[in-house]
Amino acid sequence: MTTHRTVAELRTALAAARAKGRVGLVPTMGALHAGHEALIRRAREECDVVVASIFVNPAQFGAREDIDRYPRDEAGDARLAAEWGVDLLFAPYAAEMYPDGFQTWVDVEVLAEGLEGAERPGHFRGVATVCLKLFNVVRPDVAYFGRKDAQQAAVVERMARDLDLELEIRVIPTVRDADGLAISSRNAYLSPAQRAAARALPRALEAGADAYRREEDPAAAARAVLGEEPLVDPEYVEVARLDGRLYLLAAVRIGTTRLIDNVVLEGGEP
Ligand code: PAJ
Repeated sequence: MTTHRTVAELRTALAAARAKGRVGLVPTMGALHAGHEALIRRAREECDVVVASIFVNPAQFGAREDIDRYPRDEAGDARLAAEWGVDLLFAPYAAEMYPDGFQTWVDVEVLAEGLEGAERPGHFRGVATVCLKLFNVVRPDVAYFGRKDAQQAAVVERMARDLDLELEIRVIPTVRDADGLAISSRNAYLSPAQRAAARALPRALEAGADAYRREEDPAAAARAVLGEEPLVDPEYVEVARLDGRLYLLAAVRIGTTRLIDNVVLEGGEP
């Protein structure tokens, strides 16, 4: 695996590698975990060249969100990425992605407005813009995203369709810990008591899915489960159709940590 800091360097390395066949891209913000691993391993299976990016994208963090607190472990990430089968690692500095004078943004409208978009204004503008930049730099045949961030995946799919991008977006099922909690870099912020309380989130979504199968209100059932856990403060619990599938999605706060998760109610694999 080779690591590249600039667009020019990555493009040069890719020009030679591209001849091998299909190029897969896995965009990440680092602090790699089993969720990222599933995306990278899938890319390894399906592509001839695997590129992963690690970039803690300032444009998708709001003014109230602490980007400096985001976990970073470059050496550890590089080791894992190589072990999981990445060929080229793109880890640019912020000034490489957003040079002085940068002023062009991608706004996906309706899909980016509710749920995470309502809680985090400007978040999906930052996500869509950095993803489009990464797609233009890498020019992948396939880009891999996690179902854990279902709205993000739907926003990126929509952008790709609307802007006629020549790539496939593949969405990979959520990887969970044994107790059901979706794996996330943010889980590292939780104290042991908070970590135990966090199990209420997947439990609530499962209760919601059960309620939906009984033709009852899934959001109400999920809220009831979250309501029993005093350390968990729900932000939203909503049913939404995102990409043809019907989802139950939730965001909660546990202390200062914000966790999101979702379950598919209708329209395909979980
Ligand atoms: P990050 O949070 O690092 O996630 C990178 C990718 O891993 C995303 O597509 C996310 O959905 C996926 N992922 C995270 N946890 C997962 C899990 N438990 N199971 C399956 N997939 C999981 O999402 C971002 O970074 C950024 O917004 C990014 C797309 C890189 C743009 O900056």
